Amino acid sequence: MQQPLLHLDDNMNFEKIQSKYKGSFLLEYESSVHSTNSVLKNNCAKLSGGTVLFARNQTAGRGRTGKSFYSYDGGVYMSILLKTGVPCENALDYTTAAAVAVCRALEKTGSGETRIKWVNDVYYNGKKVCGILTEAVTDTAKAEVSVIVGIGVNLFAPESFPADIESRAGFVFECKDENTEEKFIINLLCELENLFSGIKNGMRAHVAEYIGRSFIAGKTVTLIKNGERRRAFVKRITDTCALEIEYQNGENALIFSGEISIEA
Ligand code: BTN
Repeated sequence: MQQPLLHLDDNMNFEKIQSKYKGSFLLEYESSVHSTNSVLKNNCAKLSGGTVLFARNQTAGRGRTGKSFYSYDGGVYMSILLKTGVPCENALDYTTAAAVAVCRALEKTGSGETRIKWVNDVYYNGKKVCGILTEAVTDTAKAEVSVIVGIGVNLFAPESFPADIESRAGFVFECKDENTEEKFIINLLCELENLFSGIKNGMRAHVAEYIGRSFIAGKTVTLIKNGERRRAFVKRITDTCALEIEYQNGENALIFSGEISIEA
């Protein structure tokens, strides 16, 4: 057993989750941190692979491409440390598997149908309810690569969303409820463990479902990559979870990272 990373706070629901959870992740809780991803990143060398940090609140939650991620009382914020040893190109597998795991866990907890917007956003009722930030950390001294998968879910309704995300952000369940939170988190941990261990063993069991849940094939999008915006038609998502697109000048490309916004 590793030394506790942080003190266990007195949040009864997390204690209940810890006692009910029978999987192999090492669960850690904190009431408030800057960012669960940053805490794991900064403590990576001394933590075991499989550590999962939950925080009730994040004061500086981080999103992709340097954006901030809005955290509020009613969301679930967690990061998982995976000591994969594999090169960071495989990070896309963990990101896409995490998106599938979130969809499955929400639906098992009682939501309706959830969908995925490439590459890592989960949508419910047409709005984004979850973001995933996957980061690789390389320990050059030990020649060890770790992957941190951070997941933020708008599980319950906030009082309000900030004006800049109000039109796009949604939540899954109207009323805050400890049993729903507990059920969701345990479902999610089980799904993540199952899909991540598959990836480690060379299986990518999530891919067909990832493609099936994605809703952007056949749409015209704006692709934002390295600060450049280009309109493109999405032909399909490949079995490597890359985006096969055709730019307006007829040029075809496979895109492994970047952000898209869908044309109205
Ligand atoms: C995105 O939508 O751009 C990704 C958002 C990822 C947010 C989660 S919340 C838990 C973890 N800690 C962070 O600072 N970010 C991730």
